[in-house]
Amino acid sequence: MTGKLRLGVNIDHVATVRNARGSAYPDPVRAARLAEEAGADGITAHLREDRRHIGDDDIERLVEELSVPLNFEMAATDEMQAIALQHKPHAVCIVPEKREERTTEGGLEVAKDENRLAHFIAPLADAGCRVSIFIAADRAQIEAANRIGAAVVELHTGAYCDFHAEEKFEERDAELERLRDMAHFAHSLGLEVHAGHGLTYDTVQPVASFPEVMELNIGHFLIGEAIFRGLPESIAEMRRLMDDARA
Ligand code: PXP
Repeated sequence: MTGKLRLGVNIDHVATVRNARGSAYPDPVRAARLAEEAGADGITAHLREDRRHIGDDDIERLVEELSVPLNFEMAATDEMQAIALQHKPHAVCIVPEKREERTTEGGLEVAKDENRLAHFIAPLADAGCRVSIFIAADRAQIEAANRIGAAVVELHTGAYCDFHAEEKFEERDAELERLRDMAHFAHSLGLEVHAGHGLTYDTVQPVASFPEVMELNIGHFLIGEAIFRGLPESIAEMRRLMDDARA
């Protein structure tokens, strides 16, 4: 089942720094190419409705210039669907999006919006995109993601990472167990399992060790760490920790 665990590097926050000055520097596409060279298996970028980091031009250039797969994160809106259908990225990850949130706070409530989401993702899958749904490690959400025809579920690791940072170790371990069980359950339904959000050098290994998890998507920490040790080294260390956990 296992195979190599893929690392998707999310470059959104290179764009956050660029946008702080309203200039063209630093360029997230340059960071994406460097990440590729440093061993990223894919690049992830989230085009938010308010364009607070990645912009439409970035997506266009990523599609043209990358040689690894692009995982395009987006909300389930008509505008984003049209953009995805125009570019046909390798993967589309459907995420919940609220304007007032700082980052993607929870998973998608698939079970509550099943019909609409089934119709929403069908044209994306028909266009050849692998459709992934970003959800909490929750049985009902996984079953709903499976029913609507998703190929992939990405399990939200944010709560696990937050509990770790807050030193709430009992809650952290309970959340990790939930992630482990739900990775197993999703895989048993035939879904490909990914995971991500908030992962750091300290939290990545337990998740990387789950044999059903095929891909981790990591952004904020890697871009932050790049300030101190450079992007290639920041990524190489994450890769090393993931490979060690897998072995
Ligand atoms: N996966 C998904 C679906 C996300 O929305 C994000 C954040 O954009 C990530 C992974 C990466 O999270 P982080 O930047 O905290 O590593």
